[in-house]
Amino acid sequence: MIHQFDTVIVGSGGAGLYAALEASQRSKTAVLSKLYPIRSHTGAAQGGISAALGNVEEDKPEWHAFDTVKGGDYLVDQQAAAILAEEAVQAVYDLENRGLPFNRTPEGRIDQRRFGGHTRNFGEGPVRRACYAADRTGHMILQTLYQQCIKNAVTFFDEFQVVDLILDGSTAQGVVAVELATGDLHVFAAKAVLFATGGFGRIFRITSNAYANTGDGPAVCARRGIPLEDMEFFQFHPTGIMGLGILISEAVRGEGGILRNRDGERFMQRYSPTLLDLAPRDIVARSILTEVRAGQGIRGDRRIDDYVHLDATHLGKETLGSKLPDITGFCKTYLGIDPADAPIPVLPTAHYAMGGIPTDVQGRVIMDGAGTIVNGLYAAGECACVSVHGANRLGTNSLLDLVVFGRRAGRHIGDYVRQADMPRPGTAAADEARAFIGRLTDGASGPHGGHITDDMQTTMMENVGIYRNATDMQAAVDRIQELRQRYRSVRVQDTGRPFNTDLLEIIELGNLLDLSLVTAASALNRRESRGAHSREDFPERDDDNWLTHTLAYLKDDSVRLDDKAVDTSVWEPKPRTY
Ligand code: FUM
Repeated sequence: MIHQFDTVIVGSGGAGLYAALEASQRSKTAVLSKLYPIRSHTGAAQGGISAALGNVEEDKPEWHAFDTVKGGDYLVDQQAAAILAEEAVQAVYDLENRGLPFNRTPEGRIDQRRFGGHTRNFGEGPVRRACYAADRTGHMILQTLYQQCIKNAVTFFDEFQVVDLILDGSTAQGVVAVELATGDLHVFAAKAVLFATGGFGRIFRITSNAYANTGDGPAVCARRGIPLEDMEFFQFHPTGIMGLGILISEAVRGEGGILRNRDGERFMQRYSPTLLDLAPRDIVARSILTEVRAGQGIRGDRRIDDYVHLDATHLGKETLGSKLPDITGFCKTYLGIDPADAPIPVLPTAHYAMGGIPTDVQGRVIMDGAGTIVNGLYAAGECACVSVHGANRLGTNSLLDLVVFGRRAGRHIGDYVRQADMPRPGTAAADEARAFIGRLTDGASGPHGGHITDDMQTTMMENVGIYRNATDMQAAVDRIQELRQRYRSVRVQDTGRPFNTDLLEIIELGNLLDLSLVTAASALNRRESRGAHSREDFPERDDDNWLTHTLAYLKDDSVRLDDKAVDTSVWEPKPRTY
């Protein structure tokens, strides 16, 4: 089946919906999503969206931009960070005007709370910058934007899995997708395509990410020759529920929660004397692991799955109930504890990809270090790398990123499609997709995808996790290559067509394997420690040799690595202390 739209957006989280809302003002716009839109992972973002509103204490966009650059260990493109911080204020008010129910101060203004790495006056101490709707901020953004898209007549194709990008030279012409309800292949011809498919935390065994976070957009782009940027930087959120990885929002610490080791010590005093528990995530996650390795975890056995306590007992039932109700519920459901009465057992959990599809500040995808544009191809949100997060994202900057850059991309698309011709894509991409799915479902016997998934996730968790070294990362590259070989003979067990989730999972596994390889190869290549990339064999940041973005090109079984200049035009890189 063939469809024609001016604009096709793949992914229905915050970035996709905001882009759709803008693009639909001036173009016929479709959103493809493998989920129902309001189940997108933006809905799991808890603690807040940052903006220097200054509602509860003095704040400035310039301070926010600086914190973002320093938090990203100076790998952030600084003009992009300035845009992020400056446009944040209006973006939050726009969401408010569209109906988002933020928590309020007693005077009726949008309330703001503290979050890690956000500071007053270039690092003096924590500032209240995160605007929030209890601990359901992402959920509220998603609901608000979805309602607006429905109002603005965006066409939704729910439960459509994208399998390929149609490119003619360096111009996007559309995408190929499988309709899950029928198993039919659809071609969507479009003047502009935007990927907003979210993250790929499912490459790791313990993650806060939903099952759907399989990096479909970046993987599809990589297989069509688009590079992926800074894939070695993957954020581990310090506080996932021990053993499960389910997110316990940083807002718990923003409201005053304290991390404690087996002696009850507030150990962050030793690692970050100024910001304490609200240091940036890379620092807090490493500190927890260092405590565990030193036998200071709660069990004290030094095993990698030992944990620490997040103590929120002093916050009281009223604060927990009004500001952290979902967290309270998660603790009751998954741990059988009330955080008002008992500390929460936590351990870092794979949370956020700083890297992704490289774009400029209009969301246009670029394909080399010189900034060459792919005509009509856009990306926004976690699957993109604009790069405002550098080597480590600050909490609450992800919701902001998807709102600011989703909106910018949607607006740019609105202009672009007015002068672009409707493409007439050939059949090659659809034929390839049909052949690929035909092989998976041809009835032959082959290895089970689930075993490959387990192996991949364990390999990535153990070898490309918080602390890294060359031996482990080389082992990961080799193992992932073996798994990619095995993947070539995988077959579905269920050969039916309607709602074939077995097929869907195998398509997703192929994407995860490709992204695991690119992540491990990029990490092995970077011989320094910066932000979330922490090497035991190269423990120092090395600006002389590595103050540069990585571009990784996937070609069949190899990854070619190149670099791209970092924009350091505002602040000179300095040692990063908190
Ligand atoms: O901790 C949190 O609420 C997560 C927020 C984020 O990743 O920005």
